[in-house]
Amino acid sequence: MECLNKPHVHVRDREHVERILAKMVADGPNKLQVVADFDRTLTKFTHRGQVCATCHNVLEEGGLPEEYKEEAYKLRDKYFVIEVDPNMTIEEKTPYMVEWWTKAHELLMKYPLSKAMLHNMVANSSARLRDGCIRFFDSLHSNDIPLLIFSAGVGDVIQEVIAQQSTLYDNMHIVSNFIDFDENGTLIGFKSDIIHVYNKNENAVHDSDYFPNLSHRTNLLLMGDSLGDLQMANGAESLEAKLTIGFLNTRVTESLALYISKYDIVICEDETMDIVNNIVSNIL
Ligand code: C5P
Repeated sequence: MECLNKPHVHVRDREHVERILAKMVADGPNKLQVVADFDRTLTKFTHRGQVCATCHNVLEEGGLPEEYKEEAYKLRDKYFVIEVDPNMTIEEKTPYMVEWWTKAHELLMKYPLSKAMLHNMVANSSARLRDGCIRFFDSLHSNDIPLLIFSAGVGDVIQEVIAQQSTLYDNMHIVSNFIDFDENGTLIGFKSDIIHVYNKNENAVHDSDYFPNLSHRTNLLLMGDSLGDLQMANGAESLEAKLTIGFLNTRVTESLALYISKYDIVICEDETMDIVNNIVSNIL
């Protein structure tokens, strides 16, 4: 495929990728399922020179008192560098990620976040779906292709971002940290165990009937921006073809070799869904 020849697109093993793609194209949409991370995979890392909000950042950008924002930013300054440090292993990073998510969620519980506030927080935020994401969602939906969105962000924010900037379709299944609201619609905690960037291998979705119900869809396209995202489809056991696409958004020089060694295709500093849309349109 021509789009894979662009200078910012890196293919680890061209022969392997071409073989997988040829099978996916021959098998068509009925055999395909897609698993995607959310923050910085379906959404942009930067927009017009500004770093865009992740789900958690949406809650920090507005609506809650300034001191919440300050405390949350302190946490981010400490832990984000660890998340993206190419010199640390996932095992070394994991305890810090657990600490980050635990502290961030505990901090949030000190403030009166209500369900009603989410709409405006998202509307006023800098979270942006990638250019071309609407087309991506529309094509998967119109071809009945299931999309699992597996995110360490905040599920309620994801639903709101997609609903406001595209369409929340019934072929989408979101696995994420969902807020537990009380009967007055005020946050009282989170509904299930923390999903952080590096425990996507352990999630309940792998033991649920999600992947077994899709066992006839033997071709899987996986998209992520973190090495932890490669574990998102661990529950899919009857696969015949799997293509992994990694978005490398930051620290490209230091991380490229590592990403190429893990992902089939690595797309660097590209805020669009163009390469993915190109691949998907060939399969449809
Ligand atoms: O959707 P995804 O799994 O990528 O979401 C996790 C992202 O959220 C991480 O990349 C992390 O940097 C970010 N995060 C954040 N603030 C937190 C926790 C995570 O911005 N408190």
